Amino acid sequence: MPKYRNSLNFDRDEKDPLMTRRSFLALMGVGACIAGAGALFNASVLGFLYPNAMKVPPSTFSLGRPDDVLTREGKVFNARQKVFIETSAGRVRVQTAVCTHLGCTVNLVDTGYSCPCHGSTYDSYGRNTGGPAPSPLVFFKVYKGASGDLLVDKAQATLDWNDAWFTPVT
Ligand code: FES
Repeated sequence: MPKYRNSLNFDRDEKDPLMTRRSFLALMGVGACIAGAGALFNASVLGFLYPNAMKVPPSTFSLGRPDDVLTREGKVFNARQKVFIETSAGRVRVQTAVCTHLGCTVNLVDTGYSCPCHGSTYDSYGRNTGGPAPSPLVFFKVYKGASGDLLVDKAQATLDWNDAWFTPVT
């Protein structure tokens, strides 16, 4: 017959029961289970409170309202996202500004792009034309989100500069 019959393996009748290693580990296990269940509950409640329409993948960023974006013409650099945003005749496309050699930010030059780090050059389409850069600068997918903003998904890239244009339907 076991000396103690409770799950934590200590004698309730002792005046000053010492906590054994086993009972301490049992308490820690119970605490970890309660904490895990609480975290799962919180995650499911938060997921319920925030509808899917508000979830934007971390690879995605907003260009803004189509009316604001498309009133501009030409190519501008977005330092925060390290991209070039080009607008022309009601269309927009977005190209990376990250050099395909070692990741420096390329500069816009008359002939296309130039990397200040090791001298790679690209033509105006982003095709690598010189230096150590092994591949062209990609374009990212642009689309209209549920909010009406123009969004860019940096996880979806193409090298097709014609296909990269996005024309929002108004
Ligand atoms: S990082 Fe651009 S050439 Fe090396």
